[in-house]
Amino acid sequence: MNPDELGARLPSLEGEGLQLRWLIGRDLPALESIFSDRDVVRYMATEPLDTRAASECYLQSIREGFLEGSLYQWGIERAGQIVGTCTLAAIDRDNRCAEIGFALGRQHWGRGLVLRAVPAVIDFAFGRLKLHRLGADVDPRNSASIRVLEKLGFQREGLRRECYFHLGEIQDALLFGLLQRDWCRP
Ligand SMILES: CC(C)(COP(=O)(O)OP(=O)(O)OC[C@H]1O[C@@H](n2cnc3c(N)ncnc32)[C@H](O)[C@@H]1OP(=O)(O)O)[C@@H](O)C(=O)NCCC(=O)NCCS
Repeated sequence: MNPDELGARLPSLEGEGLQLRWLIGRDLPALESIFSDRDVVRYMATEPLDTRAASECYLQSIREGFLEGSLYQWGIERAGQIVGTCTLAAIDRDNRCAEIGFALGRQHWGRGLVLRAVPAVIDFAFGRLKLHRLGADVDPRNSASIRVLEKLGFQREGLRRECYFHLGEIQDALLFGLLQRDWCRP
């Protein structure tokens, strides 16, 4: 049973001209197409989804995370198609904080879509979940993601050096944070 009493699945959220919704088995090909791309997962804590079995396992971990209340991952749907996901991870009710993450399929980059989706998840985190703080960590080379976080009002809080070993390289992480009292929809 989900600890936030969300019922059997995540509620759908409305973005600007798009919807954030619970992911289902029918979305496996879309998830595979987004997350098998090395350019998409290059700076994410996600291994490329190279096989259907890996995608099924990924979807299963999203479901388990929901039931535990530790990870909420919405599919971003636009014109009937899943184009990316937005995630609250490491949800910590005691300290009222979580980590936010987002990704779009490569062909959907550069259109401002993520900035139309993520505010709905931030509203949900600070509203329905009553969280106090959202964090994000980003590789310093991930300029688009840094820009997105800054446009949403996240503040730069520091640099964690060489903290991830991912896809054959050691990566740094810039730390960002947004407090509930500073949240102001762009
Ligand atoms: C991060 C991501 C979702 C951004 O989506 P996007 O559609 O490319 O972003 P947008 O088009 O809304 O651009 C956001 C801002 O970044 C800027 N930007 C985009 N690419 C950039 C680049 N390579 N260098 C510098 N700035 C860049 C844009 O100009 C825009 O700023 P502006 O509105 O001031 O012009 C997308 O790049 C992605 O899915 N990346 C892979 C997954 C990932 O790394 N997720 C984050 C892990 S924390």
